[in-house]
Amino acid sequence: MGMRMGVAWLLLLTIGIFELDAVYGYVRPPPRKTLFVPHAEEDADTPQQVHISQVGQNMMRISWITDNSTPAKVSYGPSPSANALSTTGNTSSYNYLIYKSGEIHEVVVGPLNPNIVYYYRLGDQPSSPTRQFKTTPSQFPIKFAVIGDLGQTDWTRSTLEHVNKSNYDMLLLPGDLSYADLYQPLWDSFGRLVEPLASQRPWMVTQGNHEVEKIPLIHGTPFTAYNARWHMPFEESGSDSNLYYSFDVVGVHIIMLGSYTDFDSSSPQYKWLQGDLENVNRAKTPWVVVLIHAPWYNSNTAHQGEFESVEMKASMEGLLYQAHVDIVFAGHVHAYERFTRVYQDKTNNCAPMYINIGDGGNREGLATKYIDPKPKISIFREASFGHGVFEVVNASHALWTWHKNDNDEAVVSDSIWFTSFSSNPSCKQ
Ligand SMILES: [Fe+2]
Repeated sequence: MGMRMGVAWLLLLTIGIFELDAVYGYVRPPPRKTLFVPHAEEDADTPQQVHISQVGQNMMRISWITDNSTPAKVSYGPSPSANALSTTGNTSSYNYLIYKSGEIHEVVVGPLNPNIVYYYRLGDQPSSPTRQFKTTPSQFPIKFAVIGDLGQTDWTRSTLEHVNKSNYDMLLLPGDLSYADLYQPLWDSFGRLVEPLASQRPWMVTQGNHEVEKIPLIHGTPFTAYNARWHMPFEESGSDSNLYYSFDVVGVHIIMLGSYTDFDSSSPQYKWLQGDLENVNRAKTPWVVVLIHAPWYNSNTAHQGEFESVEMKASMEGLLYQAHVDIVFAGHVHAYERFTRVYQDKTNNCAPMYINIGDGGNREGLATKYIDPKPKISIFREASFGHGVFEVVNASHALWTWHKNDNDEAVVSDSIWFTSFSSNPSCKQ
């Protein structure tokens, strides 16, 4: 082939590839099958579904389930023998229709030293395996993994594998955990699925619509399984409900709100939020982060105009704006979207940035349709499964990255550096 022919072929090939891309684009992966993680072969005394969550500055709540009644006891310490200290806690269970949960144990351990590995053993059997967790650091930097709408599918597994490799310090989940959707054994399966991660790093969660599980006339109490299984540190933040709470970690004040409980201006949640924001000390926690489930900003066609989004925003957006909240994470929409700093639908440099990260891997699949044209306030949007990493480097700078599950590889597909309001003199505190 002559030189000129070769160049012509190359040109045709290049055009062809571009054409193919233009015609077919990126092929969206379909939902993957739901997993059910069975109880391993161990006996009914064996601890399972272990997860931990931070309580106060230097304590950790360890939660696990056994089929039989066993002691709520934890032996722990900084050496692999895990026997320097021991603490006891309490046990509960719940009924849901014909289902009766296992024995749900909770023990709060501490005070703990920051940024080190602790070894721990559950129950009082010497044969109980030794597990380990790492405490959060006492100073910047700190790395949060952020996943919404996690569910339990093969996509969930892929997301968890990526998160596990991210070397995160704490996981934040803006609602929709197990997608048990009334079938309680799926809560147990979810507990087993996340245990390898959730038993090693604190998982801090808030609830979504899939946690409500209320059936009129048959099971009138909402959030039965969620509240029994995922006790978050609400008492320590002056909240009267497990559905909304706050805590400090390093220099970040994190507020978890409840989209599916009252949020109007006369509600206990609103009053609690008002008081919580007033008490933020920016010298101690230069960053303020809020998590909700139903997003206040969303340019996907899914979940438009829902009560929890529209009315909660109308009620609470002003509070977050006046308090100079830095960033708001939401879930619910099964896609990724990052907005600019926005207040009352308009770009505002002194308002929070909004990020929707409801793409963890649930069985309902992705929300692929968008409002066209893209609103100016939406900066980046894509319907792919994945997770986010929010790395707070110091009091003034943080890096946000979105990692998409591209053919099971975690690929950084969106990233942005941004600065805290506490370091920004143009937005008065
Ligand atoms: Fe949801």
